[in-house]
Amino acid sequence: MAPRKLAAGNWKMNGTLASLAEIDQLLADHPAPACDVLICPPAVLVHAMAQRADGSKLMVGGQDCHAKTSGAHTGDIAAVELKDVGASHVILGHSERRADHGESDADVEAKAQAAHAAGLVAVICVGETEAQRDAGQTLDLIASQLAGSVPAGANAQNTVIAYEPVWAIGTGRTPTNEQIAEVHALMRDKLSARFADGADFSLLYGGSVKPSNAAEIFAIAHVDGALVGGASLKAADFGGIISALAA
Ligand code: 13P
Repeated sequence: MAPRKLAAGNWKMNGTLASLAEIDQLLADHPAPACDVLICPPAVLVHAMAQRADGSKLMVGGQDCHAKTSGAHTGDIAAVELKDVGASHVILGHSERRADHGESDADVEAKAQAAHAAGLVAVICVGETEAQRDAGQTLDLIASQLAGSVPAGANAQNTVIAYEPVWAIGTGRTPTNEQIAEVHALMRDKLSARFADGADFSLLYGGSVKPSNAAEIFAIAHVDGALVGGASLKAADFGGIISALAA
């Protein structure tokens, strides 16, 4: 089985109910895309977006979950709660969560276990800062984030890995093709060494992906799709990325 191609949008803290019009447009423009398509809106929009996407190929996900299934955790959301309102995926360990909320690899691993137990696909993010790249630490860091964040129960069905260099997020800067290829090859090697179906995990690249650079990025070995921030907010832009992946 080859890895599934996935175009995933991360709306981050952007969007209101009115933004669901973008979903209507996306579904009208791409009723039967030849790749998987996922959008992870703010948690308050997951239910409404899932209802809007019902009967279509569009999947909806959360951007984080708690490691526990319920309890006294004000402001947090359980994986089972995301599942209950129609989510199929949840992004975990995004660099903004790691930086803003101090999430460690162990936290991400525990959240991924909760996601799997709830029947959600965990989209686990890894990536180096600019200082780490400049210090020549990228490959060691990615290997250690993967080892620490991806739980033993992961497989190609319940887990997607996203490589997002922190310095490329929202900056308009992207790594060279060689830099992306080097990290994706390392991720494939590490997953294949640890998991029987490691060759089948979908590996996404994220960081300033847009319609104009998507095709070039998707041509790189072991890049099975993208995790897209800014360019996922508008149907026309995200649609261009979907077209490039499905080509
Ligand atoms: P941008 O596509 O806006 O650079 O964001 C990438 C990202 O962080 C997706 O999770």
